[in-house]
Amino acid sequence: MKKILTVIGARPQIIKAAAISRAISEHFPDALQEVILHTGQHYDTNMSEVFFEEMGIPRPDINLQVGSGSHGEQTARMLDGIEKALLDHRPDALLVYGDTNSTLAGALAAAKLHIPVVHVESGLRSFNKRMPEELNRITCDHCSTLLFVPTQQGMVNLKREGFNMDSQPPYTMDNPAVFHCGDVMYDNSRYFAQPEVNASEVLEKLNLVGKPFVLCTVHRDSNTDNPTRLNAIFRSLLHIAYEHDKLIVLPLHPRTLKYLNVNLDPDVYESVVNCPNIVLTDPVSYLDMVMLESRAEMVITDSGGVQKEAFFFEKPCIILRSETEWVELVENGNAIIADADQERILAAFDQMNDRGDFTYPQYYGDGMAARFICHTILEYL
Ligand code: UD1
Ligand code: UDP
Repeated sequence: MKKILTVIGARPQIIKAAAISRAISEHFPDALQEVILHTGQHYDTNMSEVFFEEMGIPRPDINLQVGSGSHGEQTARMLDGIEKALLDHRPDALLVYGDTNSTLAGALAAAKLHIPVVHVESGLRSFNKRMPEELNRITCDHCSTLLFVPTQQGMVNLKREGFNMDSQPPYTMDNPAVFHCGDVMYDNSRYFAQPEVNASEVLEKLNLVGKPFVLCTVHRDSNTDNPTRLNAIFRSLLHIAYEHDKLIVLPLHPRTLKYLNVNLDPDVYESVVNCPNIVLTDPVSYLDMVMLESRAEMVITDSGGVQKEAFFFEKPCIILRSETEWVELVENGNAIIADADQERILAAFDQMNDRGDFTYPQYYGDGMAARFICHTILEYL
């Protein structure tokens, strides 16, 4: 029996962890033991607890309850707690997802204790080091022993950074292995979209049954914390809601909620909260999100995960950032980068509205990435 310690903390990681935990319980229950450490980076019920309940993720064995704070404070508290947990549990490997501060802390703590790091969602790059996520993912990749890469572009990025794509076992931090494996988020989307698994009533709850709508999420610090950008985004949404008479559903990340009436111009704020075509809600559960994504006409987002889910559910997407790690979506015309620029957002909206010739190649694997990852961990550790 091999023991892995999985570090999660932020919403998308909890969601990704569901795919691996499901693969372990279905295929490797006697071979792989998972100890789950929740850093507590996200802590509101609808940013954390709800996913454990509805996605069947085992309860965390450890919760560090680090909460919010500056990057330094938050990451330092995580490092301290994760190091103690690693010394206590002595796992054969540590597993981290994605690119958050929880990812960085997990990878650094384990690497310094010479515990092999397994990085799921490795190789992604925005080539924008002003993003905290870009620093986190580069550092994590270079501390890792097994790197699981969701896309072809991720493989290209790692090769360019000097990773040996033909390395041979035994694998170590200095001789890491890189695997192209598909995306665990695709595994989840397929699984949780099945009608027998997903009984979400969000359409009824939000009074959306039979109504066309656009789904939007905004949470990047570069958008929420910058009044110019946040105003441009919300002015665009108001234009779409009023001039195109489109219903827009907007589950608000707590970060966005915090900044909405601070950073929006007062007239924009008043219009947004009083606009009958804009449905503002608390963050929704994953099953609700899957239901909304599968029924939306279009998705407008700055989220990495939501961009891809729009593709999984065959919806066009407008990206509210200046670049993306998921370049294949843009190259294939499924998504348009519009930044936080009102003219570009509205032009992208018109362009997507007029098009019907989208294609959906299998960029993200076959829905069995998690099983491959578990199998490979067992083979090489
Ligand atoms: C983090 C990740 C980001 C990821 C996002 C997913 C980092 C650097 N950023 O950003 O990559 O896309 O999670 O959602 O790790 N807050 C609450 N309740 C919560 C959680 C947060 O109110 O349960 C509020 C707090 O005011 C907090 C703010 O949101 O200061 C930001 O939270 P934080 O975890 O620092 O970063 P995110 O913006 O969520
Ligand atoms: N998500 C959710 N409820 C919401 C918004 C998003 O369950 O109200 C899910 C979404 O379906 C995806 C993940 O959260 O699986 C994406 O996380 P987020 O946008 O917070 O972060 P990112 O992917 O940008 O790191």
